[in-house]
Amino acid sequence: MNILSTPIKIGQRLAPNRILNQPMECNDADEVGNPTGLTFQRYRKLAEGGAGIIFFEALTITQESRARKNQLGIYEKTASSLEKLIKEMKGINSQSLVLLQITHSGRQSGPGFSRLVTVYPMADEEAHMLSGQEIEEIGNDFARAALIAKQVGADGIDFKQCHGYLCAEMLRPANIRKDRYGGSFGNRIRFFAETVEKIKRAVGGDSFLLGARFSVYEGIPGGFGTPGPEEVVEDLSEPLEFARLMERLGLDYINVSAGIPAITPEMVRPTKNYPEGVYRHFGWAKAVKKVVSIPVIGSGYSYLRDGKNDLKEPDPNRRSFIYWAEKNLSQGVCDMVGIGRQSLADPLFAKKILEGITSEINYCLACGGCSQLLRSQAQTGCAVYSDFYKRILKEIQKQKAH
Ligand SMILES: Cc1cc2nc3c(=O)[nH]c(=O)nc-3n(C[C@H](O)[C@H](O)[C@H](O)COP(=O)(O)O)c2cc1C
Ligand code: SF4
Repeated sequence: MNILSTPIKIGQRLAPNRILNQPMECNDADEVGNPTGLTFQRYRKLAEGGAGIIFFEALTITQESRARKNQLGIYEKTASSLEKLIKEMKGINSQSLVLLQITHSGRQSGPGFSRLVTVYPMADEEAHMLSGQEIEEIGNDFARAALIAKQVGADGIDFKQCHGYLCAEMLRPANIRKDRYGGSFGNRIRFFAETVEKIKRAVGGDSFLLGARFSVYEGIPGGFGTPGPEEVVEDLSEPLEFARLMERLGLDYINVSAGIPAITPEMVRPTKNYPEGVYRHFGWAKAVKKVVSIPVIGSGYSYLRDGKNDLKEPDPNRRSFIYWAEKNLSQGVCDMVGIGRQSLADPLFAKKILEGITSEINYCLACGGCSQLLRSQAQTGCAVYSDFYKRILKEIQKQKAH
């Protein structure tokens, strides 16, 4: 293991190694969006785990844009508790970079506790169609959230463009709004470009990091990565143009994902149903890496484990996380490897890999338990290795069976 343990420069900062904890929503904030004891426990463990970058899960920029009832929030009311949490993490480990993912849930804002809004008309009449002015105000909310992230001691933010939430809706060809935010590619990227400028003005031009995670191909008709509002065939022309734009706008990294968890979950997180999904993630990251020179992060690595997976390679060593992480980093597929579910199964994963104590790792089984918890609006974590989350999942399954 060589490259995984080497540092990497991200903007003006240094991540101590190439493993990274992806943002993982766990729905355990209080009713205002403040971290609770459970949230503190999770992030303390991740800090101990020592990944090069620790992403915070998707933090909602307003209380009315929550996808989850107990989603963590980033606004005035939550600033002091976030500050306390980040300070604790930095006290445990001052090396890992801590970045906050900021989001607006758009059409996925939970009805009942949030305001269901949409960027462009769809069959669902319930969602309020946002006006141009409301969209601009949301851009201001993002800038405000970015400033709070800086004030509370984070090393940077991830401006979330992936997984079907508001910013992803904006980008796709199906966004046929008639005003300056829809239709042509130039109009669909306008919100991103304008908001990045607002964020930069708010946080100043120093070493505070700004990056974005986006879904290169969403797998729905008219989704990002298709050539038109009714097309389904994968065509990365626009996503690659978008990646170039991110670099031109001065972003410090790009985190490459795909799919929409609520609609195309297997595309987001590979499982035994389609193990080769991990290869697709490698391909997507590589395609982006070819067109930019800022660091590119790859996704979808949890299913690889220690090689106990269903990939069609006879040698288990050549199927493992370590094998593929090293190979992809050395062959220019990506610059950092992101783990999602594996960071719930074992928050100390990075440390154990880097220290060579892989026999002690709790490997993620890609069983879907954590996703089921999140879908059910329950407190979320690994339902295999934690009795606490196992019990919650059992209860949900029992209720469903009745
Ligand atoms: C419970 C759960 C919560 C997630 N929360 C987020 C999130 O807040 N932001 C995000 O960009 N992706 C989120 N994801 C997606 C993961 O970051 C990751 O992309 C996905 O699980 C695939 O990577 P993996 O194979 O390493 O798990 C979540 C996934 C799961 C299962
Ligand atoms: S619940 Fe299953 S999929 Fe989720 S982290 Fe645990 S083992 Fe992995």
